[in-house]
Amino acid sequence: MTRGSVSQNDCRQLERSPLIGAETASIEDLIAQFGHLSEPDSGPGVTRLAHTPLERRAHELFADRMRALGLTVWADAAGNTIAEVAGTELGLPAIGTGSHLDSVPHGGRYDGIAGVVAAMEIARLKTEKKIEHRHPLRFIAFANEEGARFGQACIGSRIVAGLTTRTDLDRLTDANGVTVAEAMSTVGIHPALVSEAQWVPDHWAGFLELHIEQGSVLTSLDIPIGVVDLISGSTRLQLTLHGRAAHTGGTPMHLRADALAAAAEIVLQAEALATDTRHRGTRITVGKLDVEPGSITTIPGKCTLAVDIRDVDSDRQRESAAELIAAAQAIGSDRGVTVDVELLADASPAILSAWVRDEIIGAASGLGLSYRVMPSGASHDSQMISHICPVGMVFVPSQNYGVSHAPDEYTTAPDLAAGIEVLASALRALDQTLNPSNGPKRVEGDNDD
Ligand code: GLV
Ligand code: MN
Ligand code: MN
Repeated sequence: MTRGSVSQNDCRQLERSPLIGAETASIEDLIAQFGHLSEPDSGPGVTRLAHTPLERRAHELFADRMRALGLTVWADAAGNTIAEVAGTELGLPAIGTGSHLDSVPHGGRYDGIAGVVAAMEIARLKTEKKIEHRHPLRFIAFANEEGARFGQACIGSRIVAGLTTRTDLDRLTDANGVTVAEAMSTVGIHPALVSEAQWVPDHWAGFLELHIEQGSVLTSLDIPIGVVDLISGSTRLQLTLHGRAAHTGGTPMHLRADALAAAAEIVLQAEALATDTRHRGTRITVGKLDVEPGSITTIPGKCTLAVDIRDVDSDRQRESAAELIAAAQAIGSDRGVTVDVELLADASPAILSAWVRDEIIGAASGLGLSYRVMPSGASHDSQMISHICPVGMVFVPSQNYGVSHAPDEYTTAPDLAAGIEVLASALRALDQTLNPSNGPKRVEGDNDD
């Protein structure tokens, strides 16, 4: 089979993997509808930040569509929206699928949305075709996944996994000093109730997420399906450099304590650290740099850097953070600049369930689609849900050299349709193979945590 489309003729093993019939027109329509929900006059791309009225409108669109299909829909105390269709056997734990509906500033139309649209398309087809399943199926739109507004990623899914609590919601702030709790309250979510959103592991049999790759591995190899084995962790720091604001003309070079010059050295040191052979695979980014007072005639007295350190190796992630902090302090002391360090967020890498991965591989193979097992450099809600139940992730190709978190983010509708077929087939396999009397099927050496 060629990549990019799935047709009945292409599939030789229909008995194992009947197509659910994902339609590119329906997928494109949903992508466009969510894409329109962007802050007016905010410039290029989609801007739909966490806990804003626009994010809530996206959740309402999801909820309305799911209700129209006859599903039971509710919003939890974290702002996540869940739509359920009952299974044929009473008392079984649920199988879930979904992703998030918020975006970064000037982001694309597919990050998170692809997985929610996949869930909506599967819900539509299962309902219209009256496809039965033993377990309850839950289709989920998570809130506040992007760390762009509050520094910490995946807050909606962290809350359901018990990893973020009420205290964190009062601690984490956006660039204007608004706490997560305050932002939630302004859109009608009650932060005091968040503990009620926590999932009970016994109520969940498994969770699958479809997501765009956000990299160029799949397109460069012309492979339509990625099967994720590991999700990178992320340590996020805020470095505040205090130098001395002074006159740019009156202050000789040797008497300066220039916070921006120190910041520049730290940025390059971060890059050097990540590309050092000891750290190969580590990704360090300074994505935000605020300079004060921000005047052409004043030496910068204060700089604030937001640093994101990502790795699939948990120890290396924390060692890199410690090395960078030590390097920043040494640079600061050479320049008469003090360096204050704040830990904004720290999430460990996640190893996804090996047996769920095998079910996804079986689904792709059954459809005649080639696949590649690969790690994810980005964070995902699945990373947090892996603390609750066995989890798997399906990646679909990102065009335009894999660009994401940018307006040029693009995945073709046939590629999405192929991913949705794999997701539907894997959900079906989970539904059939999970046996409550035996517990989830596991193999020795399986590494769920
Ligand atoms: C989440 O989108 C991330 O930044 O990895
Ligand atoms: Mn995402
Ligand atoms: Mn993202």
